[in-house]
Amino acid sequence: MEILKTIADYRQWRKAMTPDQGVGFVPTMGALHAGHLKLVASSRGRDPLTVVSIFVNPLQFGPAEDFARYPRPFDEDSRLCREAGVAAIFAPEASDFYAPDFSTFCEVAGLDLHLCGAARPGHFRGVCTVVLKLFNIVQPQRAYFGQKDIQQALILKKMVRDLSLDLEMEIVETLREPSGLALSSRNVFLSPDERSRATALSRGLFLAREAWAKGGKSAAALKGIMRGEIEASSPTRIDYIEAVSQSALAPLDTLDVPAVLALAVFYGKTRLIDNILLG
Ligand code: PAJ
Repeated sequence: MEILKTIADYRQWRKAMTPDQGVGFVPTMGALHAGHLKLVASSRGRDPLTVVSIFVNPLQFGPAEDFARYPRPFDEDSRLCREAGVAAIFAPEASDFYAPDFSTFCEVAGLDLHLCGAARPGHFRGVCTVVLKLFNIVQPQRAYFGQKDIQQALILKKMVRDLSLDLEMEIVETLREPSGLALSSRNVFLSPDERSRATALSRGLFLAREAWAKGGKSAAALKGIMRGEIEASSPTRIDYIEAVSQSALAPLDTLDVPAVLALAVFYGKTRLIDNILLG
């Protein structure tokens, strides 16, 4: 497995590949867990070569967010990638990736008005900019994103469509612990008590899905079910609990179109997100 730390080194490696050596690409910020590895396994099953990028992207963190304390266990990440059969890790330094006078951004208008877009201004502009730049460098035939970050995945899919990028986008289902808690790099920040309280998130989502499957189509009622379950777990703060359309990610009153139930909740200082798709 190659570890490529500069854009120039990656390009040199990529140029040596023949046209039949298509790249499946898994962009990450590192602190890899089984959820990331599920994306890697999806690529390993389809693409001749799998490339993982590890880059904690300063552009997508707000000033009060956890950029500085975001975990960076690079040696462990490399070991996991090697064991998973990754062909190359692209792990640039921020100083190589963004020149001091960097000033070009990519923004998908519309889909970022609600959910995490409303709570984290500028976040998706940072995500789209880094992923577009990564696509230009990595030159993948296919790229893999987790349903765990559904708004990110749908925004990036739209970016690829709007800008006619020549690659396929795959969305991979969320991997959960047996408790239901969605795997996340931020779970390491949870105390044992917070971790067990945070299982309320998936329980709330699953209870709401059961009610929906029995014919409950009122967004207020479904959100009430989730809120009840989550409030009982004494969260530090509820950022949002929403029912939105899959097409526009805009809030619904009635779930008469394919929908996403999505939430963001703090336990202590740790902000967790989760979602499920309905229809
Ligand atoms: P990161 O949070 O490291 O996540 C990398 C990818 O792993 C994302 O596509 C995310 O949705 C997916 N993922 C995380 N937890 C998952 C789980 N439990 N099951 C399945 N997939 C999961 O998302 C980012 O990094 C960044 O925003 C990035 C796209 C790399 C741009 O900087």
